Amino acid sequence: MKKQISVAIDSPAAAGAGTQAKLIAKYYNLFYLDTGKIYRFVGYLKIKYKKEFNYTLVKKKIKNLKVKELQKKKLLSNKVATVASIIAKDKKIRKIVHNFQKKCAYKPPKNFSGSILDGRDITSVIMKDAMFKFFITANIKTRAKRRFKELKSLDIKTSYNEVLKSIKKRDKNDYNRKISPLKKTKDSILINTTNLTKRSCFLKIKLIMDKKLNF
Ligand code: C5P
Repeated sequence: MKKQISVAIDSPAAAGAGTQAKLIAKYYNLFYLDTGKIYRFVGYLKIKYKKEFNYTLVKKKIKNLKVKELQKKKLLSNKVATVASIIAKDKKIRKIVHNFQKKCAYKPPKNFSGSILDGRDITSVIMKDAMFKFFITANIKTRAKRRFKELKSLDIKTSYNEVLKSIKKRDKNDYNRKISPLKKTKDSILINTTNLTKRSCFLKIKLIMDKKLNF
């Protein structure tokens, strides 16, 4: 049996990790999971259910969660993102979403040649033994500019300053939390996308992967 390809990516918000993960997934035929969307989904539940929101509700919703549900526009707002980064500090919430991520990482659908996950604790917790580990980053203004452009193109009402504020807040939450904080593990390859186009960044990653895969 051919060895499955596994790719783990961590990154602060809006650094381009999702874009690169999609390009890599397409090129190498990998199953892709944007793990941030799961935390956004839980953040969305917290906003929607307010007082009824509790661990039992989250467990039930995650149990019935289809990957398709994670592609919905309702998960993209700054508000959902900020609430996501708050609930993501909760140990019990992280435990509930852990198995869903592990399943996607280690048991991708059979028609794929492996899996690729991106998030905040993928290289350090979820896929510690991944064949490839990347830490993708960019300076904060570039990240805010890109996310603002993206939200605008999706007709989501916001301003550059609002996006910048939300990203700063999330960086603070994600880098400083006690459980599974965002960090670059020693064995991850650093990719700074600040001055790279999507294509040149992809080619850089592809070069690294092809070398190891003997393509
Ligand atoms: O990647 P995205 O910006 O959509 O993630 C939303 C939030 O979910 C992050 O700011 C972070 O707090 C949380 N998250 C996490 N662990 C992951 C992925 C996302 O804590 N693996």
